[in-house]
Amino acid sequence: MSQTAKIILDGKEYELPVIVGTENEKAVDISQLRSQSGYITYDDGYGNTGSCKSDITFIDGEKGILRYRGVDIAEIAEKSSFLEAAYLIIWGHLPNKAERQEFDDLIQQHEMLHENMKHQFQGFPPQAAPMAVLSAMINSMSCFHSHLYDLDEPHKFLEATAKLLAKVRTIAAFSYKHSIGEPISYPAPGLSYTENFLHMMFDAPNHPYTLDPEVVRAMDLMFLLHADHEQNCSTSTVRMVGSSQANLFTSVAAGVSGLWGRLHGGANQAVLEMLEGIHKRGDSIETVIAKVKDKDSKFRLMGFGHRVYKNFDPRAKIIKKACDDVLKKLGRKDPLLDIAKELEQAALADDYFVERKLYPNVDFYSGIVMRAIGIPLNMFTVMFAIGRMPGWIANWKEVHDSPSQRIYRPRQVYVGPVQRSYEDARKQD
Ligand code: SDX
Repeated sequence: MSQTAKIILDGKEYELPVIVGTENEKAVDISQLRSQSGYITYDDGYGNTGSCKSDITFIDGEKGILRYRGVDIAEIAEKSSFLEAAYLIIWGHLPNKAERQEFDDLIQQHEMLHENMKHQFQGFPPQAAPMAVLSAMINSMSCFHSHLYDLDEPHKFLEATAKLLAKVRTIAAFSYKHSIGEPISYPAPGLSYTENFLHMMFDAPNHPYTLDPEVVRAMDLMFLLHADHEQNCSTSTVRMVGSSQANLFTSVAAGVSGLWGRLHGGANQAVLEMLEGIHKRGDSIETVIAKVKDKDSKFRLMGFGHRVYKNFDPRAKIIKKACDDVLKKLGRKDPLLDIAKELEQAALADDYFVERKLYPNVDFYSGIVMRAIGIPLNMFTVMFAIGRMPGWIANWKEVHDSPSQRIYRPRQVYVGPVQRSYEDARKQD
């Protein structure tokens, strides 16, 4: 017998169906509420609202669980690679040998940019924000690949997916080279996905870049840990735009914009800036914690807190270990890592954070790994975007393939002026 929910409005009782997911998450289906009662629901920031049914990623915020297509993130981080995890997220299974070979070949086939697209970098000022360049260049893929607007046929979706995954690295690396006035470094044959990214970022005619397996592994792990995360702000943006039947490239470009904000993907850069500030000023941990608790300071502990995780972010645990590993193997120490660990220790013992269930999230340590790799600070969020690309593509496809595909169009509660005349609407001198 399926469960229902009863609600009484204006003295009348309404019975609404309850949906139960495969992980026993329960939701009241309100899709008929307005037609039956005239009422809508209200949920500022969608903290309690399910926008869709999805079979891509599952998070249990209370238990700190994250799974891509049912496989636990810790197992994927240990056994897989970013590109293989991307395949799992997008197509729902790990590739067999033939599928993997075809995918690798397509990624290599599409890693270059159209030369006209390459020339677009000349139009940006060198100091242009990397996320602005990334969003613009991904959107311009809609100009070069208009034959891939309609992705109803599987081989066309495969081609568009390979183009996005392959080229997002090239765009990021070319924009970095343009920003430092160095000649671009083209993708090299025979390198893995992440090896080629690092090659394009750091190789130069007068100082060839030597690939360090530890650095490659750390970068690949960063991409992998960011690959998807349910209906976060940027992914929901991709679904929203895709629901209008806009093409994949422009939908993903919108996702890049959503990710840019410092409350979302911009947090990894904000964490490093925060840690650098603490280090430069010589702030004590006590001073920082006191500033966070002083509401007037408007100071947030960046990299802490999460809308869903209320005990710990499993990705933060894996990245924290990667910090120690990559710094040790590179024979480096980073004072910012020590500050981060002291901050975490102090915060987790402080009622302000415990009461609000604020724990380190994926961004708290990720910047330290990227700094060790040599990624420039203003490119940190671009790294997040490269990592999140599979999740954006998979969610766009889920909207595209949905049998009940409808445009996303939330309602609102109007709280503006009631009817008034044109004259009354004018501000008096
Ligand atoms: C990502 O959604 C995803 O899945 C995102 C992500 C993904 O993979 O896509 O996981 C990636 O975006 C991680 C989050 C990165 N952002 C940051 O680290 C920025 C700092 N964190 C916060 O701004 C905040 O915690 C959010 C944005 C992450 C979550 O915000 P919520 O759920 O809207 O919580 P809130 O702002 O309503 O805060 C609740 C309380 C408030 O205090 P009170 O008003 O109750 O007294 O907690 C406080 C907040 O002031 N609070 C913090 C805090 N985060 C929340 N106080 C100090 N430092 C913080 N970081």
